[in-house]
Amino acid sequence: MFIQILGSAAGGGFPQWNCNCANCAGFRDGSLRATARTQSSIALSDDGVNWVLCNASPDIRTQLQGFAPMQPGRALRDTGISAIVLMDSQIDHTTGLLSLREGCPHQVWCTEMVHQDLSTGFPLFEMLKHWNGGLQWHRIDLQAPFTIPACPNLRFKPFALRSAAPPYSPHRFDPHPGDNIGLLVEDVRTGGTLFYAPGLGQVDAALREKMHSADCLLVDGTLWHDDEMQQRGVGTRTGREMGHLAQSGPGGMLEVLEGFPQQRKVLIHINNTNPILDEDSPQRAELARRQVEVAFDGMSLEL
Ligand code: MLT
Ligand code: MN
Ligand code: ZN
Repeated sequence: MFIQILGSAAGGGFPQWNCNCANCAGFRDGSLRATARTQSSIALSDDGVNWVLCNASPDIRTQLQGFAPMQPGRALRDTGISAIVLMDSQIDHTTGLLSLREGCPHQVWCTEMVHQDLSTGFPLFEMLKHWNGGLQWHRIDLQAPFTIPACPNLRFKPFALRSAAPPYSPHRFDPHPGDNIGLLVEDVRTGGTLFYAPGLGQVDAALREKMHSADCLLVDGTLWHDDEMQQRGVGTRTGREMGHLAQSGPGGMLEVLEGFPQQRKVLIHINNTNPILDEDSPQRAELARRQVEVAFDGMSLEL
């Protein structure tokens, strides 16, 4: 299975357009050793030709341009995107669908909850009906593994995550299973299995079991400190409130990942306030000591 990281940052990207926090300002004035990152999205493929886009970020245009297989050039109008899977209905994971309208119809897999949000509060399914068939919905049932015709060797096992529905959703403070999902994706030929959870608020025993069955854990790397937005003076919400388990502290993501010495561990969906973006930071050194990687745009993994 080929895994391409199209975007590795959380909402807003890095640097964020209106942000002058130490990271964003330091990147702009060159005093920080760091790499710019677009908003969270990956693509999966079993043959390197047909790709399943997982999440469609507002930065999709740049992301597609930066990865040659996304424009195979077999016809006057063409794309490497064969299907789309949405992990939630967050703005940073869905807005890119608007930019893909020229290529409708698209085959879109998501849960009932995500489909509801994208038919009401942010009605992409309704709007895009006016573009050549729009978004063709394939319902993800949390109990049922599924396959996608374009990548027949990949087996997708969805599961509910404790994270958060978007601020515009009626489920923001009333969570329902399926507001946020994670995926175990297995390539049945190689046996290689990916655990993908870019928005992960809580890890329980059932989830740990799923993580153990994977070769690579690609997980929520939004914040280092739960109250980092407050510490940096850029916001009031904690990671917990936003459904993101911070890396540091007791019960934090690093402690969770310690339980997986066999797995390749990669953080994705990094917020621009996170000190791990600074390649010279003690936090980044701690990740290196723990053999935890930080995803970057253009990173390729193969399982
Ligand atoms: C999140 O991951 O919590 C959201 O993308 C935040 C946002 O929409 O700004
Ligand atoms: Mn996000
Ligand atoms: Zn910033």
